[in-house]
Amino acid sequence: MAIRDIFGLVAQPRRLVICTGPCCDGQGLASSYLAELRGLLVERPGFEVHVASGSCIRRSCLGKCTDEPLASVEPDKIWYRGLSAQVLLRIYDEHVLGGRALPEFVLADDDP
Ligand code: FES
Repeated sequence: MAIRDIFGLVAQPRRLVICTGPCCDGQGLASSYLAELRGLLVERPGFEVHVASGSCIRRSCLGKCTDEPLASVEPDKIWYRGLSAQVLLRIYDEHVLGGRALPEFVLADDDP
């Protein structure tokens, strides 16, 4: 079965994965950021072009659990923290679509 993005479209291989599992979304922040991101993406010009090149999907627990909202970019397996809707939009634009990670938000292997 195909993976669907947050708009119900078949997800592209290169995608932003936003965790809404119990550790990441305990205060509802991840769900709030995701809803805001969805609105930002829908409203922007060229929406159809963007979703043809990359996707946003949600998952429940990515197995990293740090008690704060986390996201990753597949297939690069780079994890991000310090999220907000605007940061997620930057990750989507610059990493998913542009191919450049945002080091200031990358979750280091030794981060708690
Ligand atoms: S709940 Fe998000 S990584 Fe586990």
